[in-house]
Amino acid sequence: MTILVTGGAGYIGSVTVEQLRQAGRPVAVLDNLSRGHRAAVPPDVPLYAGDIGDRELVGRIIREQGVTACIHFAALALVPESVARPALYYDNNVRQCQTLLDALREAGVRHFVFSSTCATYGIPQAMPMTEDHPQQPITPYGWSKLFVERMLADYDRAYGLRFVALRYFNAAGATADHGEDHEPETHLIPNILRVALGKAEAVQVYGDDYPTPDGTAIRDYIHVSDLAAAHVAALDALADGRPSAFLNLGTGRGHSVLEVIAAARCLAKHPIPVQIGARRPGDPPQLVADPRAAQGYLNWRPASSDLEQIIASAWRWHRRWPDGYPKLAAPKRA
Ligand SMILES: NC(=O)c1ccc[n+]([C@@H]2O[C@H](COP(=O)([O-])OP(=O)(O)OC[C@H]3O[C@@H](n4cnc5c(N)ncnc54)[C@H](O)[C@@H]3O)[C@@H](O)[C@H]2O)c1
Repeated sequence: MTILVTGGAGYIGSVTVEQLRQAGRPVAVLDNLSRGHRAAVPPDVPLYAGDIGDRELVGRIIREQGVTACIHFAALALVPESVARPALYYDNNVRQCQTLLDALREAGVRHFVFSSTCATYGIPQAMPMTEDHPQQPITPYGWSKLFVERMLADYDRAYGLRFVALRYFNAAGATADHGEDHEPETHLIPNILRVALGKAEAVQVYGDDYPTPDGTAIRDYIHVSDLAAAHVAALDALADGRPSAFLNLGTGRGHSVLEVIAAARCLAKHPIPVQIGARRPGDPPQLVADPRAAQGYLNWRPASSDLEQIIASAWRWHRRWPDGYPKLAAPKRA
């Protein structure tokens, strides 16, 4: 009955492990720690430090832990890096994922929840975005996720794999114990809070001439706890025999960069200076989910995704860990 969580030492994976444990579900983590943190995995959770593309290792974990389902977060997720190093992204996110899927298939594990992304849509043609919006990614990162979506659909038809592919919009916020610690950090809220912590002079705003009310880009921020809860709900839906699905995970509400900064100024009581720069290529003015399909399928609603709640939770975590997770030199586990 164990849930294999790949990428469980990363941001969203570690919060999902926390919730699975709160729900009394046995969990094992597979993470190569290339971008994650040993300290993000509680010491009593079996942590296998290795690659999802190591078929022998995945087979061993399934046997040793009695794995019956997999939530697959492990991926590289930096858009500019994917443009500079597409081979790395296709190898890590697509080829290794296929190896993982084949190891699960071979062992008869049929339930799979996948971290997909709104980056599979490319340039938005309609807002809010529904699941049937055309998928035309503009980066290797987006394509790597879309290729896996395609593989899942084909594995479902041919091998009876049942999956839920969750296309996240912008994950944000923290729990008391788990937060965002990426290197480099490309996400807006941690970068704003770095300024509030005195670790940077100003926050970069990429473009203030978008066709939006204040000229800055609008994104749909969803609390990481709400994302994690959706994963647990997706497992339950699959266990109930629901068919495979592709679902947007967002709130349906967008906030501009300047709105997010203003809310952070209030909460952190810091002026948070901004530096306005040019737009980044490929950054659309708005990305907002239509979340209705996910809410219906999962019988789930975001509960903590008000902007103030998101920022307050992140602020608490970043004040507790201003330099990120402690660097544990713990002995290799599992
Ligand atoms: N953070 C967001 O806003 C966002 C939005 C859309 C989609 N996603 C997707 O959600 C997932 C999790 O995102 P995150 O922000 O938690 O990222 P993260 O980098 O914090 O976590 C990913 C984890 O996967 C591990 N990993 C990567 N490649 C691996 C491999 N080949 N074998 C084993 N472990 C490997 C890393 O060490 C890391 O711990 C990713 O798949 C990402 O593409 C994230």
